[in-house]
Formats: sequence, structure tokens, C-alpha cells
Amino acid sequence: MADSRLVTNPRVDRPSVAAGGAAAPGFHASLPGFAPTPIRPAPTTARRLGVRAVLVKDESSRMGMPSFKILGASWACYRALLAKLGQEPGAEPSLSELHEVLEIADRDLVLVAATDGNHGRAVARMARILGLPAIVLVPAGTVASRIEGIESEGAEVRVVDGTYDDTIAASAALEDDRHVVVDDTSWEGYTEVPGWVIDGYGTMLAEVVAAIEAGEVPEPTVVAGQMGVGALSAAIARAFARRPARLIVGVEPTRAACITESALAGRLVTVPAEGQTCMAGLNCGTPSEIALPSNLAGYDALVAVEDRWAEEAVRLLHADGIDAGESGAAGLAGLLAEREALGLVPEDVVLVFLTEGPTDPENFRRIIEG
Ligand SMILES: Cc1ncc(COP(=O)(O)O)c(C=O)c1O
Repeated sequence: MADSRLVTNPRVDRPSVAAGGAAAPGFHASLPGFAPTPIRPAPTTARRLGVRAVLVKDESSRMGMPSFKILGASWACYRALLAKLGQEPGAEPSLSELHEVLEIADRDLVLVAATDGNHGRAVARMARILGLPAIVLVPAGTVASRIEGIESEGAEVRVVDGTYDDTIAASAALEDDRHVVVDDTSWEGYTEVPGWVIDGYGTMLAEVVAAIEAGEVPEPTVVAGQMGVGALSAAIARAFARRPARLIVGVEPTRAACITESALAGRLVTVPAEGQTCMAGLNCGTPSEIALPSNLAGYDALVAVEDRWAEEAVRLLHADGIDAGESGAAGLAGLLAEREALGLVPEDVVLVFLTEGPTDPENFRRIIEG
């Protein structure tokens, strides 16, 4: 079996992609330890791809956590908590405003999230900042280091005997007057919170666009985004669909290529996504319903890769002095696997998103040493 697959997206229609934007920059700036993340050059990687430059938006440390996910989780927690208390967001959303609202309400609230690691840790961090308890549900097989990461934020971790999709269903069942479920994927009847997650990711994209517009980095001609349920990739599509990039590429693990299958079918398709991939953050069988239109219209090409390409991408980035987790390197993995078929040329400037640092240190070491 081939270890990667390229699909030219039959649904691409970039002008129709919803406009994105930074819904919450002021809110994010009010969070403790918040700072924009760097965009790093990766010259060894560029040589391997045969392109002019590779730019890496490096999310391996965002507010001291090893992924970008706090951007979506924090804004969604803010909006979901206010909504639970029947309040509208203030004119200038901030952490202190949220603290005040919670204090006045004096309610016994609990934050709940389902996760394959990073999102749950980010919700747990928000709970800790706000002084609320958190319950985080993870699928069976989640590696110990990721569970410890969530527990280090003070959350209770519950392992669900099933896949990521089963974990999502279990979290949804906990919603009641006290429990506020902050999931990053959507389904029929649960769309507001995951919509806020996508809006929160807009801050990362706004940082990239600001750097391009300030002339700090060149305008990319190729943009790659990795896809789990597709919330991150929807935010990427919304930011880049109307920019000059000639090629926007989505990348998924072969075993969980639910967005590729949905693009081929022209409707939301669930794939089994059973078993493990080292790209744990992307091991999702069902696309987020509200993100799917941006993903179907926003991507010129979709690539599915086996783990070995993610490992190769981790090694290459390491050679450039950048340490990535396997999901974090997946965008690059897709470009490596299908470089020729995608038609990358020496003039290309490639932008990838390193969405996590090594959250499974044992596997990271094995990859680097192997
Ligand atoms: C490191 C990392 N990158 C990318 C993604 C993909 O995000 P989404 O599920 O919104 O597609 C995830 C999701 O968990 C992740 O953990």
C-alpha cells in the first residue's frame, strides 16, 4: 500500500470561504504569560523540499504549553461560561472581566472537555486560571505523558474506553446546569462553542498575516495545514483563501482522513479512526460540522500520510533546530510525501504550522535517534 495519497480537492472554491479574523486579540493579550509566537526559517527543510524558503509558525510554546490549543480553548471557555450565566461578552473582553462575572454569579461550575491531549490541557489551564474544577476525557491508548500534562494543570482525567469520537460523545453527555462542555468539534445541536474555538485560533493567523504585511516574512505561495476535526484548518483557510498562495494543502493521517473522504463524497463522512497513529492530535474520525464548509472550499489539495512521513518531518525540523511533535510536523509531512505531485518549485515560499512540541518525549527521542 502506498504510504501517502494526494487528492485534488473537487470542492475547492476559495472565494466562497468564510472570512476569518482575530475575534479575541484583546482577550488573549489579557491572559497570564501571553505573547505572540515566532515564525522561524527552516533552511535544511527548504533544501529538501527544493523551495526558496520554509517558514515555520512555531507553536511549541504558547503560554508555557506545548501547543496552539489554548488560543481556541481560552476564548471558547470565556464565551461558554458567559453564555451559561446568561451574559453577553463585554465591549472589551478580558480575563479580569471573566473573573468578575464568575465571582458575582458565585456558581459551582465545572469545565469539561474531550481531547486527544492538547485541547484538554488547555481547557484545564483555563480552569486553573479561573479557580474552577475541570474534567478532561481522553480516549483509550492516550500516552502517559499527555495525561500527565493535563493532570499537571490540576484537572481530573477520565480515560474513555473507546476512540476520540466516543470520548466526544461521553463529554457531551455530561452537560448540565453545572457542567460547561468546551469541546473543539461540533455536531448537530452543538455548534456555538466549537465556533468560538475556531475564532480563537484566528489570533495565531492574525499574527502570521501581520508579520507578512509588515514585510517581516515573505508572502507564502504554498500553505499547509494539518487536519484533525478541522477547526485549526478552517481558521487557516479563512485567513489564506483570499491571499495570493497558489496552493493550500490539507494533511491528515491515512487512518483518519475524514476530511478527504468528505471532500470526495461532498458531504460529512465518518471514518473508523480505530487504532493508533503517532499523529495523535489528528486521529479523529468525524469532521467538525461547522468547520467542514471552510475545509471543503478552502483547500486545493488534500494529502493523507502514514506515520513515517510525520517522523521524517520531525527529523528534518530537528535538523533546523526546531523540535516538533508528530501532529505538529504533519503539515510538512504531507508536502514531503507529495512534493513532486504537488508541483513544488524552487521559487516557492512554504508556510507550515508547527502546532505542537514533542508531547510524547519517548517517541520523539526514538524518532530523532532512529
Ligand atoms: C498538535 C495538533 N495539531 C493539529 C490539531 C488539529 O486540530 P483540529 O482537530 O482542529 O483539526 C490538533 C488537534 O488536536 C493538535 O493537537
